[in-house]
Amino acid sequence: MRTTTLDDFLQGLQDKDLRRELLFRESRPFFVLISQQFSRQELENLCDTATAIRRMDRRPDGPQFLRGVLRDYRVMNLFAQPSTRTAESFIAAAEKLGATSRLVTDLQTSSFAKGESLEDSVRTLSSFFDIIVTRHQDEGFARRASYALSKSGRPIPVISAGSGKSQHVTQSLLDIYTLRYSFAERGGIDGKKVLIVGDIARNRAARSLAYLLTKFKVAGIHFVSPKDFSPDDDLMDYLVKRHGIHVESSTDLGEALTKQGTSIDAIYMTRAQQEWDSDQGKGITGSSPSYVLKEEYRDLIRTDCVIMHPLPRVNELPDSWENHEGFVVWRQVRNGMWIRASLFATIFGADVEIRARAKREGLIGRRGQPVGDTGQAHLF
Ligand code: CP
Repeated sequence: MRTTTLDDFLQGLQDKDLRRELLFRESRPFFVLISQQFSRQELENLCDTATAIRRMDRRPDGPQFLRGVLRDYRVMNLFAQPSTRTAESFIAAAEKLGATSRLVTDLQTSSFAKGESLEDSVRTLSSFFDIIVTRHQDEGFARRASYALSKSGRPIPVISAGSGKSQHVTQSLLDIYTLRYSFAERGGIDGKKVLIVGDIARNRAARSLAYLLTKFKVAGIHFVSPKDFSPDDDLMDYLVKRHGIHVESSTDLGEALTKQGTSIDAIYMTRAQQEWDSDQGKGITGSSPSYVLKEEYRDLIRTDCVIMHPLPRVNELPDSWENHEGFVVWRQVRNGMWIRASLFATIFGADVEIRARAKREGLIGRRGQPVGDTGQAHLF
C-alpha cells in the first residue's frame, strides 16, 4: 500500500485506481466504505451470492452448510448511532453463516469514555474480532478506523454501516438487490428511471443509492427535495460529469408525478433527516406535504412502479401504500440480512463456493441470473 498518512488515504478514496488498492485485498473488498468502490460485476456477484444463501437457507441441509461458512469467526458491531434494521440484520447475517457477534451501542461503556483514541480502540478490537462493522455520526470514523488498521500489523476488515450524512453503503447494496429482484422480468435495472424523494443532502441511504446507480445504464435519476436539501455538488458532479447520468431535480413530488409519473419505474421515499437539525430532532414532525407520497398519487403512477423506503419512516410513506403491487419495503428489510450475509461471505472468500454449490443445486442460473426470482415472494 502506497499511502503513508491519513490524508493520503482519504485523498486516495477519490481516485478510482488508488481506491481499489486501498479498499481491496486479493480482489476482495476489505474495507467497505463507499458505494462507488464496487464494480458492476462485483454487485452482480454480491446479489447472486445473496440469492444463493437465501435459497440454500430453505433447503433441508442448507442451514447446516451455511453455518459452517464462517464458523468461529467473531463480528464486532460498533454502533454509535441508533439502529434497528442494520444492526440486527448484520447480527442475523453473521448467525446464518455460523459467526458470533457482539453489539456495542453505547461507546461510553468502552474506553473511548476514558479518552482512548479511535486508533487504539480499533487496534485493540482487532485482537479479539475478525471484522468490525461500524455506524457513527462522524463520517470519518470508519475511514479512520480502516486507515489505522491498514497500518497495523494485524489488519481486519471494516464495514461502514452508516457514516454521518455521507454514505450508507450496505443499505444501497440491499436496495440494488431489491431493484434487481423487482425488475428481473423487465430487463433488470438498466434502462429504468428512479425517483428519489426527500432530504437528499443529509440522507446517506439516498446518496449511496444514487452513487451505486451509476454502475447501471439507468434511464435517469430524478431527485425531489427541498431546495435547502438538494443533492450537493460532489454528488451531482459524480453523477452527471463523471458518469453522464441524466439527472432531473424538482421540489414538489405531486408536480413531478403529474408531469412524469408514468415514466417512473421506482420511487425511493426517504424521511426528513431531522436528527441533524440544531435541536437534534427533538421536534421531529416528519416531512412537509410536498415530500409525502399521497394516496391521490396512485393514479399518476403505473401499478408496476416499485415503491421503496430504507426505513425508518415517519409520515412520508403512508401504510395505505402497502397494497400497491410494487410495494417492496418489507422485502428490502429481509434483503438486508441476505446481502449482508453475502458481503461477509465475499470478504472472507467463501462466496465462490456458495455460488458454485447453488449453481449445482439449480438455485441460481449458470450466468448468475436469479432463476425464477420474480413472482416467488414466498421464497424470501
Ligand atoms: N435503514 C436503516 O439504516 O435502518 P436502521 O437505522 O434501523 O438501521
